Amino acid sequence: MHNLYNDTDTSNIILKLKDTGNLTDEEWKVVLANWENELDPSFLYACGDSVCSRYYGDSVYIRGLIEFTNFCKNDCLYCGIRRDNRHLSRYRLTKEQIIDCAKTGYELGFRTFVLQGGEDMHYTRKDIADIVYTLKSNHPDCAVTLSIGERSREDYKVWHDAGADRYLLRHETADKTHYARLHPESMSFDNRMRCLYELKSIGYQTGCGFMVGSPYQTIDHLVREMRFLKEFQPDMVGIGPFIPHHETPFKNERQGTLELTLKLISLIRLLLPKALIPATTALGTIHPQGREMGLKAGANVVMPNLSPRQVREDYSLYDNKICTGEEAAECIGCLTRRVEAAGKHIIIDRGDRLI
Ligand code: 5AD
Ligand code: FES
Repeated sequence: MHNLYNDTDTSNIILKLKDTGNLTDEEWKVVLANWENELDPSFLYACGDSVCSRYYGDSVYIRGLIEFTNFCKNDCLYCGIRRDNRHLSRYRLTKEQIIDCAKTGYELGFRTFVLQGGEDMHYTRKDIADIVYTLKSNHPDCAVTLSIGERSREDYKVWHDAGADRYLLRHETADKTHYARLHPESMSFDNRMRCLYELKSIGYQTGCGFMVGSPYQTIDHLVREMRFLKEFQPDMVGIGPFIPHHETPFKNERQGTLELTLKLISLIRLLLPKALIPATTALGTIHPQGREMGLKAGANVVMPNLSPRQVREDYSLYDNKICTGEEAAECIGCLTRRVEAAGKHIIIDRGDRLI
């Protein structure tokens, strides 16, 4: 295969990024555009992996994901749990069920719980605060992460006071015009950004992220992603390929590719060396070894599912999502083997970002 990463230009740009943590727009375009040709990206992946191990060794952090509601007031054009999808049975876990999932997770070795859900106003500010407070009281050695979308500053503040440590809110795209093509008019890029900056100022460890290969995404958008990440300095960056869902307006759109996702994992690792970067379920969905490849390209987090098995299939953000048939214990067993296969090992620890 013709290998352009031996080409001095491209490898010099990658080395510059590795050394300095930044590039000019023109240089970004060169490294981001190369995936379109048939080039061997292994040099880039190796750089991502080596910078990751410089800070994290061969440690991989695990986060137990509890998908506690699939009700959502939003209607994002890409998302399978969007409000307008009537062909989905909707569920909500009770506080007791959530606490129970965390207890099982604790026994399995999890020290971070991620409460994720659609934007479901059924759970009030106080409901969420109660759940967070109880989880932190039951497991004082654990971190609690919330991932429940856009809410008011006051909500975020109260939940942080109740003990929530982290918040994940993907920005989905750093380009306002692109954002408007992925979301209904009722949603706004500016509000998403407001939420992210508020979360950070309140003191949350904050994660953002975007879909790779989402409809209408261009190289210029990806350059903008890199610029935004550098400016925002998130603690975590979650990226995964866009995968069409058959009950959404984007059902006939093209899926994001494995190669571009892996390249972006490596590039983000070089851009933000200490960031937490998950090898996502979406990456595992588009390729049987996708997550292992992600870990070898610079990712250092996996997020197995702790939700009760009866509800898993209904948290269908995209088609063919993996792990819907497995119990929590099976998922962690499977992921432990996969992490080992990637030459790494799972750490039982809260796994905060290195300072
Ligand atoms: N393909 C891939 N990722 C998706 N998400 C939502 N829908 C899809 C899809 N069709 C991602 C979004 C969201 C996260 C919870 O899941 O980035 O923030
Ligand atoms: Fe709820 Fe997309 S429709 S997050």
